[in-house]
Amino acid sequence: MGRGRILVAGGGGIAAYKLPELVRALRGAGHEVRCMLTPAAANFVSALSLGAVSGAPVRQSLLDPGEEGEIGHIELADWADLIVVAPATADLMARMAQGLADDLVTTVLLASRAPVLIAPAMNVHMWEHAATQANLAVLEARGIARVGPEAGELACGWEGLGRMADPETIADEAERLLGAKSLAGERVLITAGGTREPIDAVRAITNRSSGKMGYALAAEAAARGAEVVLVSAPTALRCPAGVRRVSVQTALEMHAAVRDEIAEVGVAICCAAVADFRPAQASERKIKKEDLAPGEGLLLELVPNPDILAEISRDRGARVVVGFAAESHDVVAAARRKLARKGCDLLVANDISREDAGFETDENAVLLVSPTGDVEELPLLPKREVARRVLDRVAKLRDTHGETESS
Ligand code: C5P
Repeated sequence: MGRGRILVAGGGGIAAYKLPELVRALRGAGHEVRCMLTPAAANFVSALSLGAVSGAPVRQSLLDPGEEGEIGHIELADWADLIVVAPATADLMARMAQGLADDLVTTVLLASRAPVLIAPAMNVHMWEHAATQANLAVLEARGIARVGPEAGELACGWEGLGRMADPETIADEAERLLGAKSLAGERVLITAGGTREPIDAVRAITNRSSGKMGYALAAEAAARGAEVVLVSAPTALRCPAGVRRVSVQTALEMHAAVRDEIAEVGVAICCAAVADFRPAQASERKIKKEDLAPGEGLLLELVPNPDILAEISRDRGARVVVGFAAESHDVVAAARRKLARKGCDLLVANDISREDAGFETDENAVLLVSPTGDVEELPLLPKREVARRVLDRVAKLRDTHGETESS
């Protein structure tokens, strides 16, 4: 498989002494590795030893003409397929969250479009501090991946969360993120957001879906090399880099857009919260209460919308089709019934009774339900990480579908 170019960004913590081991593990897996250090990191690990194990000069300064002459900082930012920040100190995480570019490491991180993996390491109280946790939330919402920290005895004498993950574990995670070009050449369709069904010229029936889960899936699928079309109901979100967005309002428009695209795609993920019903007649003019008798109610006639997921599952052939479900109670049983009714290959079920997950949040706790009835329960994770896990399953399903097709 294709080997990657990994840029290791060393932060100034005691765990930096493990960097040569990390570099060796990454090179052992066949990757090309370069290192850069913050000024503080250079107190904990020598550039000389990192240069020797990485086989390339180590960059430390933004303004050193000798270093810039060898490889410029923008060139370095463009060179990387993945940046591994280890150890990610509290200070470095704070500067990343703020988007500062006050040294070589933060400047390269800001200039690069490569995925980033952080391996935090610090004193347990620094890790638990609200400021660090807020910075972490910002970084994770941006799609940055994280490995560790682990619990144990810390160099500072305290016990608790704060140890940097083992170099081997960090290398495995890097491998997973890189190997993840698993969707190269694949065409993926994703529906996202809550549809808006007009009642009249100004009012509509909609729901609380923010679209964040679908957008995270689109960003992750694109990062894995897929050609992504995102059929999106209205949201406040930015279209992820490398994704083609088709904007729609209503379930009928979403249905039409999906029908236009579906023949070309190998994977379809229905993440949108599609209104089950729409007003039978949307008034072109604003309905005025003055037109009603005082105290008179307004009756809206609703008619069902097409079930996009059920329709594309029915005609899927070798295509992998994934559905989502929001359930408020008896989640596993409800999800199994829904999967059977829709006929898709995988159902991702949210428990919307949880306060901390699901609609409008940055995190999600889901169950992955298979047609065999198998259930994998994922912990509360950033939506981008949920997207990774879902796409790992999609890649496996695609492989097994491929085998069935060719046998
Ligand atoms: O039936 P329910 O709305 O709970 O099913 C949720 C799943 O079905 C989601 O994947 C959603 O995107 C999809 N769906 C759809 N078209 C509809 C209703 C739901 O694609 N009309």
